[in-house]
Amino acid sequence: MKILVTGGAGYLGSTTAKALEQAGHTPVILDSLLSGPRVFVKDRAFYEGDIADRELLRRVVADHPDIEATIHMAARIVVPESVEKPYEYYRDNVAKSLELFDELVALDRPRVLFSSSASLYATKDDFEVTEEDALDPQSPYATTKRMMEQVLEDMAAATGLRAIILRYFNPVGSDPDLESGIYAREPSHVIGQLVMAARGIKDAFTITGVEHPTRDGTGIRDYIHAWDLARAHVRAVERFDDVLAAVDAPSTVINIGTGEGVTVRELVASFERVFGEKVPVREAPPRPGDAVGAFANVDKATRLLDWKTELSLDDAIASALAWGERRREILGYE
Ligand SMILES: NC(=O)c1ccc[n+]([C@@H]2O[C@H](COP(=O)([O-])OP(=O)(O)OC[C@H]3O[C@@H](n4cnc5c(N)ncnc54)[C@H](O)[C@@H]3O)[C@@H](O)[C@H]2O)c1
Repeated sequence: MKILVTGGAGYLGSTTAKALEQAGHTPVILDSLLSGPRVFVKDRAFYEGDIADRELLRRVVADHPDIEATIHMAARIVVPESVEKPYEYYRDNVAKSLELFDELVALDRPRVLFSSSASLYATKDDFEVTEEDALDPQSPYATTKRMMEQVLEDMAAATGLRAIILRYFNPVGSDPDLESGIYAREPSHVIGQLVMAARGIKDAFTITGVEHPTRDGTGIRDYIHAWDLARAHVRAVERFDDVLAAVDAPSTVINIGTGEGVTVRELVASFERVFGEKVPVREAPPRPGDAVGAFANVDKATRLLDWKTELSLDDAIASALAWGERRREILGYE
């Protein structure tokens, strides 16, 4: 199959493009390079431009009339920045996605897979969330994802559009050949913070929030290896029509996680095991907006996608560390 991947120069988009290729499919990349590095596109079919550029989309489909589905991953993704720049987030993630979906319907390319997020979920007593559980987006970024889920549901009900919405939990790691990964110059994500503390670049790793109602007081997440996440997309495009037939609806939402909740203290312990050194830890009160967290109930993904994760948290941490060693070679910066 030929698959249009918007945001295919990004971290997860390029990893997914690779997983598609390994399964015998052909990704076509559309990315403005707003944040994604050119080098992640490799030698794939590539259109540099905006998802809202209808003229460009028409050209992409004219060049590749055999595109069978679109994986829409292009977005602005930095939560604190979304608080500071709501206009840019609503414009790019909401208004531009609307143009993309409308043009895909006009071009008779109705199958859309959308990257949504576990950050939509309201806090639940046992932290395990199903797709039916209550939502409570806490940032403009999360709200853009919630809005686009609603848009897809409404457009699928009214037009030929068909949508599978994947709510990702917390991706960690690279592809098996370490060709793409986190590319931010100053990684704010948790593994980057742990590496800096372990290497003495920072004096300690700070656990923000130690009085949450979890088994050890720290926040809980569902860390999924980026390669397992990428493989889920392959299954979703391959089974696209069967998935919607099984749910008897023109759109549906599926959690993509491991099904295992991991607390911050447990994450630190796994990191120390894989890295082989102790990490100095400091405890601090939660920052404003820090969520206790959630982990995925993955029954729906297992049933509909015939997919489950194959890699462990230790694998994901080892992959993230290996990418950290490799990325200078690929990106030209540490
Ligand atoms: N990384 C995570 O932890 C995570 C978790 C949940 C959901 N997601 C979602 O997954 C998707 C991919 O995330 P990622 O981590 O790979 O992010 P990323 O920033 O690496 O990739 C996004 C890509 O989209 C491109 N882009 C942005 N706006 C565009 C536009 N208007 N037109 C064309 N291209 C545009 C960027 O240049 C970038 O290459 C996003 O939709 C994100 O919201 C990510």
